[in-house]
Amino acid sequence: MKILITGGAGFIGSNFVHHVLARHRDDEVLVLDALTYAGNLENLADVADDPRYRFVRGDIADRRLVDELMRDVAVVVNFAAESHVDRSIEDPAAFLHTNVDGALVLLDAARRAGVRCFLQVSTDEVYGSLGAEGHFTEASPLAPSSPYAASKAAADLLALSFWKTYGLPVVVSRCSNNFGPYQFPEKVIPLFITNALADQPLPLYGDGLNVRDWIYVDDHCAALDRIVRHGRAGEVYNVGAGNECTNRALTELILGELGRPLELIRYVTDRLGHDRRYALDASKLRRELQWEPAHRFEDALRQTVAWYRDTPSWWQRVKSGAYQTYYERMYGGRLQAAGERRGHA
Ligand code: NAD
Ligand code: TYD
Repeated sequence: MKILITGGAGFIGSNFVHHVLARHRDDEVLVLDALTYAGNLENLADVADDPRYRFVRGDIADRRLVDELMRDVAVVVNFAAESHVDRSIEDPAAFLHTNVDGALVLLDAARRAGVRCFLQVSTDEVYGSLGAEGHFTEASPLAPSSPYAASKAAADLLALSFWKTYGLPVVVSRCSNNFGPYQFPEKVIPLFITNALADQPLPLYGDGLNVRDWIYVDDHCAALDRIVRHGRAGEVYNVGAGNECTNRALTELILGELGRPLELIRYVTDRLGHDRRYALDASKLRRELQWEPAHRFEDALRQTVAWYRDTPSWWQRVKSGAYQTYYERMYGGRLQAAGERRGHA
């Protein structure tokens, strides 16, 4: 079958393209990606010659292009998004364009084309923040904190409305924090690994005790693959592997793996509206679709650290140019203030 994978040049999308091509000999993959700062064709370089793969550069909000590409498509998997919370705090408008308007264009075109499945790839961040106890289920209320999470929640509801209103076979997946190869080094794990490799400080927000529930990207891709083939239309599936970790413990694991000193940690001013804790109940996915994560957190983190250590050309190119301006804007003042506090201590 032909699968339209939007955002396929980004982190999870490119891992999913690899996953599908490696496991489903008869599938064709059409990638639509705008190649924003987060999109990188190097992530797909090793499948470029596969006759089952085709790449089109374009915006998911481009109605004419999307209508044209939707012909003969059986399944749409929508990864395309502005995906970084900190950027959404600075500039929410871009998040509405892609995450909401773009999703609407895709849904409309998919409805006209009569696709078999539309998978909206979403996030646990739509549920907001947890206290010390409990887990989010698919029935938890949506209470997004950041503009990023709010835009994803809007798209989830829009997608589900296309099932209820028009009968478009939509499924929504809500996954916890991913890590693995090809993740843009603005997200905490690749940022901290690459900073540590360069002996640069690691800016830990607030008290470092916020908790994230981590999943290796391959396990997420395997879950999405099952959802596309066996998920029930109109349903939401949480995807999580049950690996809760404070940011401080995570940072210590990374530094330990790289043999770098804890002195590289800098406690910096907290993120605005910073969600304290995420934890997902993924029992519906395990029960209905017989999915289980195949990777242990510590092993997968070790593999990921090794990938960044062994692939410096990938992240050094990514971290040059416009990234420098971003880093200075996001962290320059905070790191300076943290340095001054250390000086006074
Ligand atoms: P990413 O930022 O690495 O990749 C996003 C991709 O979308 C990039 O290739 C970018 O070029 C492309 N894109 C952006 N705007 C576009 C547009 N208007 N038209 C076409 N392409 C466009 O993001 P990611 O971390 O791979 O996340 C992928 C999806 O998974 C997102 O929808 C995100 O909300 C969701 N998600 C991510 C995580 C996570 O931990 N990273 C967890 C749960 C859900
Ligand atoms: P991030 O990777 O941005 O993912 P998300 O905000 O989607 O969970 O951040 C993960 C956690 O790490 C989050 O609690 C914020 C924290 N964090 C830092 O402490 N320092 C940083 O420089 C970044 C980017 C994140």
